Order: sequence, then C-alpha cells, then structure tokens
Amino acid sequence: MSYDLIVIGSGPGGYVCAIRAAQLGMKVAVIEKNPTFGGTCLNIGCIPSKALLQASERFEEATHMLPKMGVGVGKPKLDLPTMMKFKDDGVDGNVKGVAFLFKKNKIDSFQGTGRILGAGKVEVKGTDGKTQTLEAKNIVIATGSDVAKLKGIDIDEKRIISSTGALALDKVPEKLLVIGAGVIGLELGSVWRRLGSQVTVVEFLDRIVPGMDGDIAKSFQRILEKQGVTFKLSSKVTGVDTSGKKLKVQVEPAAGGKAETIEADVVLVAIGRVPYTEGLGLKEAGVELDQRGRIKTDAHLSTNVKGIYAIGDAIAGPMLAHKAEDEGVAAAETIAGQAGHTNYDVIPSVIYTFPEVASVGKTEEELKAAGVAYNIGKFPFTANGRTKVNQTTDGFVKILADAKTDRILGGHIIGAEAGEMIHEIAVAMEFGGAAEDVARTCHAHPTRSEAIKEAAMAVAKRAIHM
Ligand code: FAD
Ligand code: NAI
Repeated sequence: MSYDLIVIGSGPGGYVCAIRAAQLGMKVAVIEKNPTFGGTCLNIGCIPSKALLQASERFEEATHMLPKMGVGVGKPKLDLPTMMKFKDDGVDGNVKGVAFLFKKNKIDSFQGTGRILGAGKVEVKGTDGKTQTLEAKNIVIATGSDVAKLKGIDIDEKRIISSTGALALDKVPEKLLVIGAGVIGLELGSVWRRLGSQVTVVEFLDRIVPGMDGDIAKSFQRILEKQGVTFKLSSKVTGVDTSGKKLKVQVEPAAGGKAETIEADVVLVAIGRVPYTEGLGLKEAGVELDQRGRIKTDAHLSTNVKGIYAIGDAIAGPMLAHKAEDEGVAAAETIAGQAGHTNYDVIPSVIYTFPEVASVGKTEEELKAAGVAYNIGKFPFTANGRTKVNQTTDGFVKILADAKTDRILGGHIIGAEAGEMIHEIAVAMEFGGAAEDVARTCHAHPTRSEAIKEAAMAVAKRAIHM
C-alpha cells in the first residue's frame, strides 16, 4: 500500500498532522500501537487529568465555597468509582472523536507498532504478530514520550505510581508522597488532596515549577501550602522500602546529608517525561538523536534523513499537547510545499490547579539572563471587582514589556481561570502588540480579564484601580 504520508503515533501531534495533510489533498495513513487513538494526551494525560481536576474541584467547592454563598448542599460524599467513570466517559468521547475525524478525512489507520525500514518504508506489526509493509513519500514520527523513571524505585502503578496510576487509584490514599514539584505532581497532588489525602511533595530544586516565572512560583507555593500541601524543597528521594504495610520513603537533602524517613501509602513519581522512540528502527534508518534521546530536527521539523519528519514530545521543546498539534500542522504544510511554521516564542502553558497558573513568552528570570531591559506591570486580583465579589482573589497578572518599544515579551497569571485568560496576551504577542495596545483595548466589566488590562496599564504606571 502506498501513501503520500504515513504518521506514526496518533497523539495530538500525529492525529492533527494526519488531518491537516488530508485537508491538503494527501493520501494519509496513521499507525497506532494502542487500541485507541489520541496518545498520551487523550488516554492517560491532559484529558483524564482535567476530568479529575474538575470533579475534585467541585467536591472541594461543595465543602468550602457553596455554604458561603448560601447554597446548602450538606457534606458532600465522595463516590470515587463514579468519579472515575466520569473521567473514563470523557476519555471515551474524546478518543472516539479522533476515530470519527479520521473517517471523515478518509485517513487509513493501522493498529500495530510501526518500525521504519528506511526512507519511504514502514513495517506495521499487529498485536497478532503479523507484519505488513506500507510505503509512503513522507513519514512523520509522532511517537510522543514516556514516564521518566527514578533509579532504584520500581513503579508498580499500585503503591508506587506514575501519572497513569494516579489517574486510576481505587481508593484515596491517606498519605500521598509526590516526587517532583512540576506540573504533574501539583495537578495530581491537588486532585488527591481535595479528595482527602495528606500530600507531601519532595522537590530536588529550591523552588517549585522550574521554568515558570519566579514571582508566580513563590505565590503558587504559598497558596498550595495554605490549601494543606507540604513541600520539602532541595530534597531528593533515595529509596522506598515497600516491605511493610506503609511505604517508608528515604528523603535526603539534595546536596547530601542526613536522611529522614517519611511514611506514605502511595508514592507518585513525577520527575518528568522522556522521548519515546523504542523499537522505531531509528538507528538502522540513520535518524539522529540528540544527547537527551530526542529526535533531532531542523527548523522545518525534518530529521537528517530526507522524507522523515518528527514532531511533538519526541523532539526538543516543551512537552505540551498544543505544541505537538502546531508542529503537526506545520509538518503537514511543509510536506505540501507550504511555509509551515511554529512560533516557539508564543506557546502558552497552563497548570490546571486552583488557582490556575498560566504563562506565555519570557519569564523575568529569562529576560534578566538575556540582558533585556524590561518594564513590569502587575495587578492583583484583590483589586478586581469580579474576583472580589466572587471571593476568588488569590493571585495576580504580570506583564513584561520591552523597556524601549513597549512590546509584550511575556505574560504570567496566577488566579481562577488563568488558563482561559492567558490567550489574550498570547494573541497580542503573536501580533507583535505593545502593552499599550492591551491597555487601550476596551474590556467588558466585570470580568477577570480586566486585571490583564490593568496590568498592561501598570506597565506605564497608570493602573486605575490600584
Ligand atoms: P503522544 O500523545 O505521547 O502520542 C504518541 C502516540 O504514539 C501514542 O499513542 C503511542 O502509543 C504511539 N506510538 C509510539 N510508538 C509507536 C510505534 N512505534 N508505532 C505506533 N504507535 C506508536 N499537555 C498539555 O498541553 N496540557 C495538559 O493539560 C497536559 N496534561 C498532561 C497530563 C499528564 C498526566 C501527562 C502525562 C501529560 C500531559 N500533557 C499535557 C502532555 C501531553 O500529553 C503531551 O505533550 C502530548 O500528548 C504529546 O503529544 P504527541 O503527539 O507528541 O505524543
Ligand atoms: P516536570 O518537568 O514538569 O517536573 C518535574 C519536577 O521534578 C521538576 O520540578 C524537577 O526539578 C523535579 N525532579 C526531577 N528529578 C527529581 C528527583 N530525583 N527528586 C525530586 N524532584 C525531582 O515534569 P512532570 O511534572 O513529570 O510532567 C512531565 C511533562 O508533562 C511536563 O513537561 C509537562 O509539560 C507535561 N504536562 C503538562 C501539563 C499541563 O500542561 N497542564 C500537565 C501535566 C504534564
């Protein structure tokens, strides 16, 4: 069978690439080794985690917020199997959506593991062990990433879990110890804390969410501590004793020193993810990897082998679904002879805790390190009418603008619904907008987004409500 394009992997990178290529008139095949489409994001990542974050947030709201608003619902009772079904139904709807889109766009799909035999040739090995060879003018590798393991700590997905196990626990652990204060640790740690776990987060560095703006991270840590999360920063886990009923976790200062033992019922390992390229035949096909095992690509997402492209978590850059999607579109358009492009300077990132944390562009630390002169505009939600009346005043908006040109270089928000609000700043940045452009744009009242306008005004020291 011969195609214009074969995509290996049906995550957000792969399935979006396949659809865009089909829209551009290509005959496309997708190879997926899992029984369902959608990759990490739809099956064991973005989608199920957001279902549990949504459900657990409502659970907490019913306990603490609704009575304050005069809505008496009594003490909420947790029905964990139903909450898990709510999550599974959401996943099911999403993965079926991808199958529908493949059909609609006349994309052929093959269930099995893809192995590149050379430029233009891919072998598919089905679950029954049978193989077939497909041919194509172009191949896009979109095989994603896998959980990073911690030496000497074996993940059994029951007591020592990765994010996958944390999305499917059958009871609320009394004590949950999270290794890694990154996005997964804080999102899934929040889920289980809301449902009743005592959560301790052990982080190697001296701060949480490395890579996020430092101001935001400090405020985020304070808020999470207020919610009951305990942090052990500058610390590392050196071992977990699984012999007893309780897990005994050995924690040491990151720099070395006296170890302490912390008891836990469940340990969540969330120290990052690594590119997944196992069994793809890259070495034989001559496709180069970088030192971190990521597939090397040029500015057009092409590998060193003509006709083989790579996108998403398997290559360099933030491991985010929307980054993979944008690269999927760019790769398809490039293959079709168009000017496919991804703007890596404007990729928003959101942590879906309560409050949410959202960011786009440069952090203050990055601007300092690059020696760029900037102005800061900050506006707290305590001074925003809508958040005040809704009593969700934790957090602030921070805008960083070039000191000379006023061009927006970065935007950072911590606060309720920050993940929806950040896109206003992203669009302004995509258009090369200045802080004054946002400041002079009329914003509806009363909205949380007025805090963005005020932060933009604060860049020129002319915020009204502060
Ligand atoms: P993947 O989604 O990993 O898909 C790769 C696919 O390739 C898989 O289906 C795999 O089975 C298949 N495959 C691999 N090798 C082969 C082969 N040889 N043959 C055939 N098929 C193969 N990102 C966000 O932007 N927002 C979020 O809220 C978010 N939440 C997350 C929560 C969790 C718990 C996790 C783990 C991740 C989350 N992410 C989130 C990250 C996001 O899931 C990834 O960035 C995204 O899925 C990457 O997409 P991808 O297409 O590159 O790869
Ligand atoms: P991460 O890179 O966000 O965080 C890992 C954390 O673990 C870091 O703070 C790191 O310093 C720490 N760490 C590393 N080794 C350690 C050790 N030995 N002991 C203690 N701490 C250690 O990785 P995470 O949270 O696993 O997420 C993986 C990827 O998935 C991220 O890159 C993220 O982009 C993506 N993701 C995105 C989400 C979103 O967009 N909302 C949600 C969940 C995941």
